[in-house]
Amino acid sequence: MSLVDKTKNTFALTTPLYYVNDLPHIGSAYTTMAADVMARFQRLMGHEVLLVTGTDEHGQKIQRTAESKGIEPQEFSNQMSAGFVSLWELLNIQYDRFIRTTNPNHEKIVKEFFGRLWESGDIYLGQQKGWYCVSCEEFKEERELLEGNLCPIHTNKEVEWRDEENYFFKLSKYQSQLEELYQSRPDFLQPESRRNEILNFIKGGLQDFSISRVNLEWGFPVPNDPKHTLYVWFDALLGYVTALLEPDSEPTLENALAKWWPINLHLIGKDILRFHAVSWPALLISANLPLPKRVFGHGFLTKDGQKMGKSLGNTIDPVELVKKYGSDAIRYYFIKEIGFGKDGDFNEVRFIEVVNADLAKNLGNLLNRNLKMVKKYCGGNVPSIASENVPDDNPLKAIGLQLGEQVKANYEALAFDRACEAVLRLSQACNKYIDDQAPWSLYKQGQQQEVEIVLYVVLESVRLAAYLLSPVIPNISSDIYQQLGFGIDFNNQIDTAKLAPFAVHGNWGLLSSGQELGQAKPIFQMIELS
Ligand code: MSP
Repeated sequence: MSLVDKTKNTFALTTPLYYVNDLPHIGSAYTTMAADVMARFQRLMGHEVLLVTGTDEHGQKIQRTAESKGIEPQEFSNQMSAGFVSLWELLNIQYDRFIRTTNPNHEKIVKEFFGRLWESGDIYLGQQKGWYCVSCEEFKEERELLEGNLCPIHTNKEVEWRDEENYFFKLSKYQSQLEELYQSRPDFLQPESRRNEILNFIKGGLQDFSISRVNLEWGFPVPNDPKHTLYVWFDALLGYVTALLEPDSEPTLENALAKWWPINLHLIGKDILRFHAVSWPALLISANLPLPKRVFGHGFLTKDGQKMGKSLGNTIDPVELVKKYGSDAIRYYFIKEIGFGKDGDFNEVRFIEVVNADLAKNLGNLLNRNLKMVKKYCGGNVPSIASENVPDDNPLKAIGLQLGEQVKANYEALAFDRACEAVLRLSQACNKYIDDQAPWSLYKQGQQQEVEIVLYVVLESVRLAAYLLSPVIPNISSDIYQQLGFGIDFNNQIDTAKLAPFAVHGNWGLLSSGQELGQAKPIFQMIELS
């Protein structure tokens, strides 16, 4: 099934809604960077895009953290949530909606949705007994626990025994419908390894799960039974729906679902797979709503092999990183270095090596060197060569002719690392081509036409590379475009959609002969290893 609804030409995607028990770390920023890359790519494709992000503010974890700091949970959430907003700005994330689950509109949506499940007969009162991890906000099977009753994800946190009256959702009723979902829509959950994990989990038999808590104040009361508070995950998943409301429309499900539902893509980490790939579709089927098109569970950023996390306290501060190195370098490293779906370790020395090699040398020096030659040998403007007159077997043109389609397919499959690598191969080929062709010798021999061909194909290759990487490194791509004489800023959505659609700029041969070039300047400064 195509990810884009062709009848609507819209593309809605979400990041998880982040817990506000602490300020964001680089692990929580990871999904958001990937989501922004996907959103920018979809905009290049000419789709109307809605990127949803936000914060998940209820539940015991937040209540306890706020208490331990002597602050009211709402005030604490306000402070932490603001930290996410400002980090997204630093990372150049162009989100369209930022939903906070304490938003009053959200309570209305949650209540209406709860009413639908109630009507379906899928909610009942029962007794919940089990081990609870407050950091995960999830009950754990006894066999999953590590020695000393520790949570397998938050390996320094003991789970707590619970025995209380809760409302339950009849997940077990949806066993066969979920099996059928996974049969009929093999692309619903990706990558394949996560799909297999969830298929096994479903085959193991689904159990009803509790959707309320007692002795917890920080959350929405259960409609008609206010001594219960709704379970934080019940309220959090519905944040995706509330986020779709137009800013001034009445908070009803009908309004929220009118334009952007179903969501095209939920991006999440692998630790919250069951909520999105089992609970969420079952809740939606119960409410008689269409399901999202795709869920993608990426891997963890690790430090010394352990998941980086607020609860473990082994995090890296993204604000410090961005201030030191700039948003493009950070985005590029995480997107290119870590296969989306796999775990990846962050190491500052490796980071510096990668961005120096790819951005400063491969792309930056290439442009600079070429622009200097254009100035010296061709009067400073794009050489007077028409792309059609360059033979198709020219080594750069040959790559360039099929690169757009290849990179597009990579972005669509969320294989961001492969998209970057494919582009990089073109810029590597450019460097080799210049060395092989030696335009300085051709010039000395008076072979002006040959010199111009060499410089034209390299300039066009750099342009294409900059365009195809613009979802990842929008600032650098804009600088390259400026230097090539295009007045296009990839951070300006309206201009980009109008002036640089993929169907035109994603193809080889756009640079037109005689185009006036802009001012040459370095696009990325080499970082010194300190
Ligand atoms: N509040 C829930 C999500 C509700 S969505 C309706 C939650 N929040 S979280 O802040 O704990 O995690 C949010 C996301 O950040 C998850 O997708 C999680 O996988 C991701 N990450 C948190 N630490 C991470 C790493 N170290 N590496 C990669 N992603 C990480 O769960």
